Amino acid sequence: MAKKCSLLMLAFVLYLIHCRSTIAQVQNNISAIDLEALHQIKNTLIDIRTTTSLHFFSSWDFDSGDPCLSFAGVTCSSSEQPRRVESLVLGTGLSDSPGLAGTLSPFIANLTELSQLVLFAGIVTGTIPSQLGSLRKLRVLSLTNNHLTGTIPASIFALPDLHTVDFSHNYLSGTIPPTISASTQLKVLLLADNKISGQLPRGFPQQLLHLDFSQNNISSMLPPRMPASLRYLSASQNRMWGPLNCLESIPELVYLDLSMNNFSGGLPTSLFQPKLTSMLLQRNNLSGGLPPLSPYPYGPGSIIDLSHNFLTGEITGVLVGVESLFLNNNQLTGTVPKEYFGSLSAGKTKTLYLQHNYITGFQTAAGSSWPPWDSVAVCLSYNCMEVPVVVGKMACPSSIGEQISRPAYQCSAFHNRNTTSKEKEDYIN
Ligand SMILES: *[C@@H]1O[C@H](CO)[C@@H](O)[C@H](O)[C@H]1NC(C)=O
Ligand SMILES: *[C@@H]1O[C@H](CO)[C@@H](O)[C@H](O)[C@H]1NC(C)=O
Ligand SMILES: *[C@@H]1O[C@H](CO)[C@@H](O)[C@H](O)[C@H]1NC(C)=O
Ligand SMILES: *[C@@H]1O[C@H](CO)[C@@H](O)[C@H](O)[C@H]1NC(C)=O
Ligand SMILES: *[C@@H]1O[C@H](CO)[C@@H](O)[C@H](O)[C@H]1NC(C)=O
Ligand SMILES: *[C@@H]1O[C@H](CO)[C@@H](O)[C@H](O)[C@H]1NC(C)=O
Repeated sequence: MAKKCSLLMLAFVLYLIHCRSTIAQVQNNISAIDLEALHQIKNTLIDIRTTTSLHFFSSWDFDSGDPCLSFAGVTCSSSEQPRRVESLVLGTGLSDSPGLAGTLSPFIANLTELSQLVLFAGIVTGTIPSQLGSLRKLRVLSLTNNHLTGTIPASIFALPDLHTVDFSHNYLSGTIPPTISASTQLKVLLLADNKISGQLPRGFPQQLLHLDFSQNNISSMLPPRMPASLRYLSASQNRMWGPLNCLESIPELVYLDLSMNNFSGGLPTSLFQPKLTSMLLQRNNLSGGLPPLSPYPYGPGSIIDLSHNFLTGEITGVLVGVESLFLNNNQLTGTVPKEYFGSLSAGKTKTLYLQHNYITGFQTAAGSSWPPWDSVAVCLSYNCMEVPVVVGKMACPSSIGEQISRPAYQCSAFHNRNTTSKEKEDYIN
């Protein structure tokens, strides 16, 4: 009996030794500093509990399991010993998940091999730890759709490999740090929908491809030189002003949204090239005319919105073929060239808003009248012309009411207006 007992005892001791060695092995696998950092990160964040959604931290069990192997969102280096955390993705990212709450621990900055830090949508509050500026390997930093406050840490832009920063849809305030201009690898900067204010930095990094700081409270001009590499630029819904001539040499630009600001002056001619398939400049203070006919036609999917400005002169052929074209609420005069009728007939142009201008006619193709196009919207109300009867049947915004003409007395002032030679010069420049 005593023998049996001691045998059992021995088995138990062996079992304990085995357990201990397993734990030791596990802890050998991840660096002690990284393990401690993960502990601290978990301590300041919690899953927003719902009965249905998967809880992100349910796999973060520090008592059993190797963080590198079993913790959701943790990816470690494979070669180094001890292993280091290289990527940290916080939150499930599932659409039915409410995400995480709490704050971001400054201990994140102890994960010095981290190249990617992602926080999925949730209600995480507090500031972005300035210590992140010491993560020398960081390439991707995405903390979008949370409730983060405070300022953008200026130190991150000195990180040598930083490629993507997405802080959009938070409550960040302060300015965009001037240190950004020194960033050598930054390609994507997304700051939309925060409370960023004040002046823009004097320059953005020359290799930047995608820049979005729309829906903030920035009150400045655009910097004198925008990166020539830009493909995507959105600054809509700020309080920006001044001319657009810094946009003159951005050859690869495909998307430009500067709508709902106070930009003024003329339209740079170089923006009118079909590669720039989305040009949204509506609701500014832009004046002058449209450039003359360009040799390159616009194609499917293109959208140009110049509505609610102070554009003058006649509609040139430059925008023929644009699929969705908004020139309404300007001071445009003259007759619409027949190429626009052709573009509508051919189904290339599907939306043409010209209401609230001083347009005196619309050339149709020889002998053609307005056919009953069901799938196009042509809005011509409140101009200095009879609204073609068929056009009246097409879908126009209901807010503009019936397709009626402008009162004659408002038109006479414009009938005698000439395009001045100064304006003609502006087209060419
Ligand atoms: C790390 O973990 C793997 C997989 O569990 C294991 O095979 C290996 O022995 C561990 N390495 C160390 C140094 O503990
Ligand atoms: C880890 O981060 C904390 C908080 O920033 C800091 O106080 C501590 O010195 C760091 N430890 C190491 C080893 O870097
Ligand atoms: C925008 O910034 C100005 C100061 O530049 C401030 O007075 C104003 O309250 C801000 N508006 C919002 C909506 O944050
Ligand atoms: C544009 O400027 C006018 C006059 O200064 C101002 O009242 C208006 O709020 C500004 N609009 C925007 C969007 O900044
Ligand atoms: C709007 O443009 C006009 C003329 O281009 C200029 O005089 C005026 O200051 C501009 N307004 C704003 C708010 O920028
Ligand atoms: C329009 O321009 C022509 C030639 O430049 C000039 O003779 C004429 O007087 C101008 N008309 C008005 C109304 O300014």
